[in-house]
Amino acid sequence: MKSVEFFEQQFQQQSARGDFVLNPFEEAVLPHLSGGVLELGCGLGNLAIAAARKGCAVSALDGSRTAVDRVNEAANRLGLPLAAYQSDLSTYAIDGDYDSIVSIGLLMFFAKGRAHVLLDDIIRHVKPGGIAAINVLTEGTTFGGALEPGNHYLFAENELTDAFKGWEILLSRHDEFPAPEDTVKKFHTVVAKRLA
Ligand SMILES: C[S@@+](CC[C@H](N)C(=O)[O-])C[C@H]1O[C@@H](n2cnc3c(N)ncnc32)[C@H](O)[C@@H]1O
Repeated sequence: MKSVEFFEQQFQQQSARGDFVLNPFEEAVLPHLSGGVLELGCGLGNLAIAAARKGCAVSALDGSRTAVDRVNEAANRLGLPLAAYQSDLSTYAIDGDYDSIVSIGLLMFFAKGRAHVLLDDIIRHVKPGGIAAINVLTEGTTFGGALEPGNHYLFAENELTDAFKGWEILLSRHDEFPAPEDTVKKFHTVVAKRLA
């Protein structure tokens, strides 16, 4: 998992600096999380910790040992209803249904087929009345070397909203950031509610 190796190093540096800040996507989806939460690709767990602090019971998964250890250490220290597990999400299948399933910045690290299998799995495992919160990359491949040639996927601009046909779209937001080599990175963030 080249992407996990990349983030493993980044997370070690961020942990050493004490850099544990919610990113703008996490800030945007946090108010929508409630109940039993599954987070796929939790990274350093800033969102998982914030969700647990507001009363959610959170299971958080990531491939990075550093990330998972940091999340569990914080959860134990703060007495939060949160557990993190190291998992290879390129083969993982969700077991159980959740009030909220969130995945920020993960699906682009898989080839198209796998990205769609996991997205479909998320869609199937949200309880009626529950929400899915998904953020993907739609443009830009200069992702610090974390995106492997042939093993990443840029979603089309409306692909995520199309995947949630029949759900209520609570948030649909496109963000653009400058990237190396005079390029841009574009992201789409969607929070969708399964009708009860
Ligand atoms: C862009 S980071 C996003 C982290 C966090 N959600 C955030 O918004 O800060 C991508 C995350 O996906 C994880 N990841 C990438 N590929 C993975 C895989 N095959 N299995 C498990 N985790 C993976 C990385 O370790 C990293 O934590």
